[in-house]
Amino acid sequence: ASYDMGGHDTYMHKEISEQPDAVDRVLRGRIDDRFSTVHLGGLNLDAREARTIRRIKILGCGTSYHAGLIGAGLIESMARIPADAEPASEFRYRNPVVDPDTLYIAVSQSGETYDVLAAVQELKRKGARVLGVVNVVGSAIAREADGGVYVHAGPEVCVVSTKCFTNTVTAFALLALHLGRIRDLSVTDGKRIIEGLRKLPSQIEEILKTEEQIKEIAAEYAGAQSMMFIGRVRGYPVALEASLKLKEISYIHAEAYPASELKHGPLALIEPALPTVAIVPDDDLLEKNRAALEEIKARSGRILAVAHQPQPKADHTIVVPKNEDELDPILMGIPLQLLAYHTALAMGRDIDKPRNLAKSVTVE
Ligand code: AGP
Repeated sequence: ASYDMGGHDTYMHKEISEQPDAVDRVLRGRIDDRFSTVHLGGLNLDAREARTIRRIKILGCGTSYHAGLIGAGLIESMARIPADAEPASEFRYRNPVVDPDTLYIAVSQSGETYDVLAAVQELKRKGARVLGVVNVVGSAIAREADGGVYVHAGPEVCVVSTKCFTNTVTAFALLALHLGRIRDLSVTDGKRIIEGLRKLPSQIEEILKTEEQIKEIAAEYAGAQSMMFIGRVRGYPVALEASLKLKEISYIHAEAYPASELKHGPLALIEPALPTVAIVPDDDLLEKNRAALEEIKARSGRILAVAHQPQPKADHTIVVPKNEDELDPILMGIPLQLLAYHTALAMGRDIDKPRNLAKSVTVE
């Protein structure tokens, strides 16, 4: 690829920095203040059809699968439609029950990932309705889908996805708001979410300003053999994505667990040499998350918290601005992109071209 790096040393850094503009683009022209909803021109799903959906199944791979996990949570909380996400390849090979009342959503940055495309084709052959949440306009998955939402992240060159993840999750927030307002989400809640969406670009700017602090923290973790990432409910997919990012570019082994699962096994791993990154939003699960930090501290584990206020049990806290509870995961992932970046940089890794990986996997 030959896009200009615009003064950045790597495409990854450029793409992380572009996120305020990228998020602005996914929102632009779509918000309808009069009805506290959003317009999604390419959805190809009218209100009557939207009301008949009984379930939503989201399919994607890697980072796009993680974005789909957050998307499923957004749809369940705003539209109250049962929703879940699954890796597209797993779905395809388990001979899934394809149900006419289920809406399928394929998620892909490139729109060319073979496992996702094959899942879409199999679903269509069985008569299912499939929407795409895709970045590359006119790509194979976008063409196969019955309709969808373009993510408008702009070209993403770095093998690891950053801005496209953030934009995809924001696109899911738009879709969830749209479906919610057709179903049971109140005008007041619609307004609340819209106000939250509008705050995202400037809040991302604020997070990007903490880069120096994150760089210092990264220098401490750069030598780690392994790292643990934890979160609960909305925070868990953020932990999954952050651990994938770290693995991909630093080659440090990382695991992500729901914080609630620690005591069912992984707590055995906790010791000073295994740092934990904890997602600790200021929401109804704050006390539960804090309890997990105490359990880790009691085993002398080092903790980096990503939170809305400093966490006394953590060795470091990266404080991010608070948005609406539903939208917090969009912001909480961003400092962890920078953490992965600076950890990998401190270890001398080839950030834009990590070993063994390709930008899009167009074969089985
Ligand atoms: C992201 O950092 C990865 N390199 C990878 O997991 C990627 O998200 C996955 O291969 C899916 O790609 P897509 O979004 O283009 O379909």
